[in-house]
Amino acid sequence: MRTAIASRVASRLAGGHGSQKLAVAPKLIDPNSLTAFVDILPIPRIAKPVGERVIQGGSAARLPVYRIPVAPVATQIHRDVPLTRVWGYGGSMPGPTIEARSGDGIFVEWPNELPTRHFLPIDHHLMGAEADKPEVRTVVHLHGAKVPPESDGYPEDWYVPGRSATYHYPNEQDPALLWYHDHAMGINRLNIYAGLAGLYVIRAGREDSLNLPAGAFEIPLVLMDRMIRQDGQLYYPVSQIPDAPWIAELFGNAILVNGKLLPYVDVRPRKYRFRVLNASNARFFSLALKNGPAMHQIGSDQGLLAEPIELKLLTLAPAERADLIIDFADHKGERIVLQDGVVPVMQFRVGSERIVDSSSLPKTLRPVARIPESAAVRVRELSLDEQVDVLDEPMIHLLNSKRWHEPVTENPILNTTEIWSLVNATEDTHPIHLHLVRFQVLDRKPFDVNHFLATREIRYVSDPFPPEPGEMGWKDTVRATPACATRIIAKFEGYPGRYVWHCHILEHEDNEMMRPYEILSR
Ligand code: C2O
Ligand code: CU
Ligand code: CU
Repeated sequence: MRTAIASRVASRLAGGHGSQKLAVAPKLIDPNSLTAFVDILPIPRIAKPVGERVIQGGSAARLPVYRIPVAPVATQIHRDVPLTRVWGYGGSMPGPTIEARSGDGIFVEWPNELPTRHFLPIDHHLMGAEADKPEVRTVVHLHGAKVPPESDGYPEDWYVPGRSATYHYPNEQDPALLWYHDHAMGINRLNIYAGLAGLYVIRAGREDSLNLPAGAFEIPLVLMDRMIRQDGQLYYPVSQIPDAPWIAELFGNAILVNGKLLPYVDVRPRKYRFRVLNASNARFFSLALKNGPAMHQIGSDQGLLAEPIELKLLTLAPAERADLIIDFADHKGERIVLQDGVVPVMQFRVGSERIVDSSSLPKTLRPVARIPESAAVRVRELSLDEQVDVLDEPMIHLLNSKRWHEPVTENPILNTTEIWSLVNATEDTHPIHLHLVRFQVLDRKPFDVNHFLATREIRYVSDPFPPEPGEMGWKDTVRATPACATRIIAKFEGYPGRYVWHCHILEHEDNEMMRPYEILSR
């Protein structure tokens, strides 16, 4: 990595911007030039178990076993775009949705059936992606799940084509929309960009009894941005330095919903439940319905909020989820476009038939008890850092000024509660994610960045901002905004062992904005 920094600096000093080392992007598909809303929104299929496995516990139990291979797949992202070669789980992108019940564990086998060559530009200067490592490696992580460390998909637990791993997901947690995705050290951004992501829904009786829209009226929306070459293939841009191609963030101009570009969906004039995931590498979405009904947010990353909130605009950082109710009853026969800012994403075609909608949008959803600050046995101040080169180009991102290979510094004791204060002295919002645990957002406290950079001392400059209404439930990913200390509170329950916490902008994560943490048993 130091070599990469040196070579980036040398190259910029020698040639500066626009030198002969500038990587020229190929001609890309401009989504504005395509006919919009000609493809039906696909719904990922529901995975089916292939067998059972007996586990010994207090009482022996038989758990369903799923088998979801990781393999190349060709997919039609739009009627008028040639087939795109991607990598998928279980033959699709996004992969099949796993439906689980709270308290009922499952096993999933994840065979690596990928080729041995990667089709996206690996940066061998990045930690864990050195030239002596196999090009193609995968390991799957179930984001938002409370799982034993050996099933969590630790970034160094990757395995090569021809190998497989079977993970145990106990599902001993509240109902929520989780998602599974690749987590291989140093190439995570490329593997997820290649298509390695899918949904995992945990349900429970107490949520079923709320009578929310269900079945055909509950629709998952997996949003991801991509750059598509004119021949239909994925393009991942590279830096100006051929042997250090890492870029600081990927922003694609093509927004895929469940793998389709500009799809439409026929809906009836009634309530629907939409389970929305931002599976992009770096893009934050600001979603709104143009000329449409209000959206009600009923849930966030880790399940239902205490009560619905009405939204005009939904902001979702990478890896964040939102659970929405949208009622089309007053929009019979209309066509409503979901937009990210001013960019069309997809279209809802509302039918004009008379129907009876017996589903509900309850006034209250579930109790969400706030964890008192006094429950915390420890407060950690953790800085989010960025190092730039002489030309102000980002080169590396760090957590608490530490690199991946330095010894563990965050080591909470099992079943204790801690406050983590994410002190962001950079100019970016970083979506920070902790594995294993759910947390609550306490507040965001603005501080004097210049003073902090000069002295490492935190001087607060104004009153804290409370969390946004949509952040008042349980979370696993939080937007740590610039010039603020974003404070979260978590009880470190589950299992002792080694996990990770990281920025979910995948380019940052792959370039050292990820740290191991360890839960100690005492
Ligand atoms: Cu989406 Cu380490 O996680
Ligand atoms: Cu995770
Ligand atoms: Cu980041």
